[in-house]
Amino acid sequence: MTDIAEVFHQNELFLTGANGFLGKVLLGTLLDRYPGFAHLHILVRPRRGLLACDRFFSEVLGSPPLVPIVEKITAQRGKDFLREKITVWSGDVGEPNLGLDASAAERLRGRVGAVINSAGLVEFFPPVDASFRSNVDGVEHVVAFAKGAGAKLVHVSTCYVCGTRDGLVEETEPILGFYPRRKGLEDTSFNHAEEIRYVRALIRQIHDSSLRLRSGSPTLTGAEARTGVAASGAENGTSRELAERLVTLGKHRAASWGWVNTYTYTKSLGEQIIAAAESLDYAIVRPAIVESALRFPFPGWIEGGRTATPLVLMALDGMKEWPVREDTPLEVVPVDLVASAILMVTALLLDSRSERLYQLGSADVNPIHLGPLVSLLSEQSRKREYNNHARTAVPYVVRKLTGAPSDSRVRFVTAEELRPRRERLQKRIGRAEDILAATRRMLAVARLPGTSSLAGWSTTLRTLGLQASFRDQTLDQYLPFVLHYRYIFESENIRAAFALISENDRKLVPWDPERIEWKDYWVNHQVRGIQKWIQPETARNWTVRV
Ligand SMILES: NC(=O)c1ccc[n+]([C@@H]2O[C@H](COP(=O)([O-])OP(=O)(O)OC[C@H]3O[C@@H](n4cnc5c(N)ncnc54)[C@H](OP(=O)(O)O)[C@@H]3O)[C@@H](O)[C@H]2O)c1
Repeated sequence: MTDIAEVFHQNELFLTGANGFLGKVLLGTLLDRYPGFAHLHILVRPRRGLLACDRFFSEVLGSPPLVPIVEKITAQRGKDFLREKITVWSGDVGEPNLGLDASAAERLRGRVGAVINSAGLVEFFPPVDASFRSNVDGVEHVVAFAKGAGAKLVHVSTCYVCGTRDGLVEETEPILGFYPRRKGLEDTSFNHAEEIRYVRALIRQIHDSSLRLRSGSPTLTGAEARTGVAASGAENGTSRELAERLVTLGKHRAASWGWVNTYTYTKSLGEQIIAAAESLDYAIVRPAIVESALRFPFPGWIEGGRTATPLVLMALDGMKEWPVREDTPLEVVPVDLVASAILMVTALLLDSRSERLYQLGSADVNPIHLGPLVSLLSEQSRKREYNNHARTAVPYVVRKLTGAPSDSRVRFVTAEELRPRRERLQKRIGRAEDILAATRRMLAVARLPGTSSLAGWSTTLRTLGLQASFRDQTLDQYLPFVLHYRYIFESENIRAAFALISENDRKLVPWDPERIEWKDYWVNHQVRGIQKWIQPETARNWTVRV
C-alpha cells in the first residue's frame, strides 16, 4: 500500500492554480490531512495591484474554506509553520519558465518531486488567445519547468475533452492524435503541434491587423505590431472587435474538429502536449463537472459558479421549460472528492504506481439524471422566498400576455422544439408590448388613470425579453451537456487507485461517489452552497420568471 503521508514527507510539491475553486480545496486537504508534507511551492500571479505573496495570504489563506484550517494548524504547530512550509513564487504559467527568473528556477531544480498543475482558464468561449495562454502555452511552460526541475507532473484537465460524444467515454482512448470526430486509430488527421502553430499564426495575424487599423499605419512590421499588442494586451482593454474575432476563431477551430467549446479544445491540446513530451513522468486527472463540497472543508462550499450554477439559478428562479434529455446523467463530482483524488494520484505517481489517465466522474456508478434533478430543483424553487417575491414582481397579466405557464409543472423540450418556442416567446413579448403601448395611448387620450402602472408593466416586459435572451444564450452553452449528448465517464482507474492506498489514507482522502445521496446533496449542499457563497445578490435579484 502507498502511504501518502510518507510520500509527501519525502517529496516537495509545486502547485499552480491555488487561488482557484479547486486549488483552495486541494491546498486545504493537503494542510489538514498531511501537515507533515516536506514543503509546498505555490505559483501565484500578482493581480489587482497585489503582490503574489499578499494575494496568497489574503485571497487563499484568508478565504472561508481555508480560515478554519489555518487556525487549527497554527494552534497545533505554531504561527510560523505555514511561512516555513510554504514558499509563494510570483509567476504566470503563460510566461516562459512560468515567469520565474533564472535564479528561482535554479533554486527549485532537483527540489520538487511533483508539480500539480491546476491552473487553467475555465471559460467556455473566451478570446482564443486567452484560452491558449493558460491552457496551451501554460501547459508547455509547466512541462518545460517540470522537466527542468526533474519533477513529475500531475495535470488537471477535464473529462469533456472528449467533445461531441454519446455514451460511455472510456479511459483507454489514446490521448495523442485525439479529436472528437476521429474515425478510429488509423485516422491521423489531427496533429496537435500543427494545430497550435496554425492557430498561433492566426492569432498573430488578427492582432497585427487590429493594431494596423487602430494605429492607421498599414506598414507596421510584425515585430512592432507584437510589441504594441503586448502593451495593449487583454488586461489593458483589448478592443471589442478584436476580442470578438478571437472568440470566433476559438469557436470555429473547436467546432471544426468536434469540440463543443474553446475551453475543452484548448484543454485537449494541453493534454496532447503532455502526452507528446519526452522523458516526462506524468498523470492526467480529468474531473467531470466540479461542484460544491460534500464534506470538506464543510458541506456546500462552492466558489466561482462557472459550471452547473447558472442552471441551478434558472431552476430556482422557476424556469418551467427545460431543453434537457430526462435520461441524461449530469456528471457532477463534489470538489472535495476531486481534491482527494488529485492528492491520491500525486502520491501514486511519486511512488511510481500510477496510470497515465484518471477520469473523475460519478455517473458510471451512481448517476443522477436530469429529469428527476430538474423536478427536484423546481420543487425547491416553489419553496423559496424570493420566488414568492417574483410572483408579485411580475404582474399576472404580464405573465398571461407572454404565455408563461401558470401551473408548476416542469416540461422537457426537445432540440427541435427549442427554436420555435424561443421565437414564439419573443414574438409574444413584442405583441404584449404593442398592446400595452396602445392601451396606454388610449388611457392618455381619454384622460383615464392607470398609465403609470402600465408603464411599469412595459418595463417589466422589456426586462423579461432581455432576460429571456440572456437566459437562452447561457442555456446554449450547456446544451451539448444536457440535450445534445449523453456523457458517462468511465472512472475505473481512480477506483483502482483507491485500492492501492492505505486504510488510513482512504479515510483521509475518500473517493466514494457511489455513496452520494444525490437528493440530499443537491438540496442541502449544492443549492444552499450556491445561495450562500455565490452571488447571493444575483439569486435574490433574479426575480422575473418566464
Ligand atoms: N470547475 C470545474 O468544473 C472543472 C471541471 C473539470 C476540470 N477543471 C479544471 O480544474 C482546474 C481548476 O479549475 P477551477 O474550477 O479551480 O478554476 P478557477 O477557480 O477559475 O481557478 C483557476 C486557477 O488557475 C489560475 N490561472 C489561470 N491562468 C493562469 C496563469 N496564466 N498563470 C497562473 N495561474 C493561472 C487562476 O489564477 P488567478 O486567480 O490568478 O486567475 C486560478 O487560480 C482547471 O485546470 C480546470 O480546467 C475544472
